[in-house]
Amino acid sequence: MSDHVPAERAHLPLYDDTNRLKLGTFATNVSNGMSISQAPTSYEVTWSHTVGLARQAEEMGLDMVVPIGRWRGFGGETNFNGECFETYTWAAGLAQATERIMVFATSHVPVIHPILAAKQAATIDHISGGRFGLNLVMGWFKPEMEMFGATQREHDERYRVGEEWLSIVRRLWTEDEPLTVDGEFYSAVDAESWPKPLSRPHPVVMNAGSSPAGSDFSARNADISFVTVDDPATAEPMVSGFKRMAFEQYGRRPKLFSGAFVICRDTEAEAQDALREILDGGDRQAARNLMSILGVQSRSFGDILAQESAEDRFIAGWSAPTFIGTPEQIAQRFVDITDIGVDGMVLGFHDYAEELAYFDKNVMPLLKQAGIRA
Ligand SMILES: Cc1cc2nc3c(=O)[nH]c(=O)nc-3n(C[C@H](O)[C@H](O)[C@H](O)COP(=O)(O)O)c2cc1C
Repeated sequence: MSDHVPAERAHLPLYDDTNRLKLGTFATNVSNGMSISQAPTSYEVTWSHTVGLARQAEEMGLDMVVPIGRWRGFGGETNFNGECFETYTWAAGLAQATERIMVFATSHVPVIHPILAAKQAATIDHISGGRFGLNLVMGWFKPEMEMFGATQREHDERYRVGEEWLSIVRRLWTEDEPLTVDGEFYSAVDAESWPKPLSRPHPVVMNAGSSPAGSDFSARNADISFVTVDDPATAEPMVSGFKRMAFEQYGRRPKLFSGAFVICRDTEAEAQDALREILDGGDRQAARNLMSILGVQSRSFGDILAQESAEDRFIAGWSAPTFIGTPEQIAQRFVDITDIGVDGMVLGFHDYAEELAYFDKNVMPLLKQAGIRA
């Protein structure tokens, strides 16, 4: 496959070459977002607030809104993430409420049937005029899968289920003939799905698997893959290694994204104070619950979980790299990460509305000056 972008995708912010670093918000559909803390915030899970944040992101020129796929909370005083808008319906609502920004759903493979997923995605793609994207997660949170009476499969097998699931979805999106499948995990008889999505060849697919099985799935299937870049100075081999692997093994060039939790203030001291406030308000029980399940069920967080500061890293940003500092310092992190070949970032904030406004006023102009945003 070449870098060729089909005409039906050329309108998408993801393929807009003027913005070298794509930017999106993450987790604005779940209570407490990426912040396991009771520190004061205007953030809440109400429809008006979540729509407001999507419009705010669109107005400041961001490229996408990506939700967390979540079905239950993590306990503790906050029942962290326990209020969670279902993501296909969330995306459908936001598609109607916005005009340019890409809207994603985050789909748990084991609990959504592929025919339903294909059709919901096609419907949202029509509502949005071809701006829909699908983030695929295999489901690492066992109690969540058990809510559905679903089996929590062995880690790598989850990706084999995902492969078969996505193959059905992709064929329903792209093929005109009825589809009969007698697979290892799914079967279908004369399945059809009309209308086809507007996006061609199909809506953008995102995946954040990072274990060997997860990266391989992502390289084979995703249009957007994720790596975790803690330090741009040392991460270049990982970034170029993933891109090389995807191209050499599968002839594919997925965009490579990373996540970050941003705390940006006028001075470093103020940014550190804001971090301290989040940690002081931390819901440590919820963080521990999350970490203990994650340690058993996922293969990708071992290094972070072993760190002494792991609990703090989860409280302030769900263990994502934290970008803490002044607008100049944060802008430099974005430039450094772009320079090593990262194509985009999804961002979390403790107080999205307030901090996006600050980011727009103080960081976006620096990103434009540096030439990574238009
Ligand atoms: C940016 C990002 C977003 C993610 N979103 C979700 C999500 O919404 N729901 C979920 O259950 N897992 C989510 N995950 C976890 C991944 O799906 C995946 O399970 C995790 O990265 C572990 O990778 P592995 O399965 O390759 O071990 C996310 C991970 C990242 C880095």
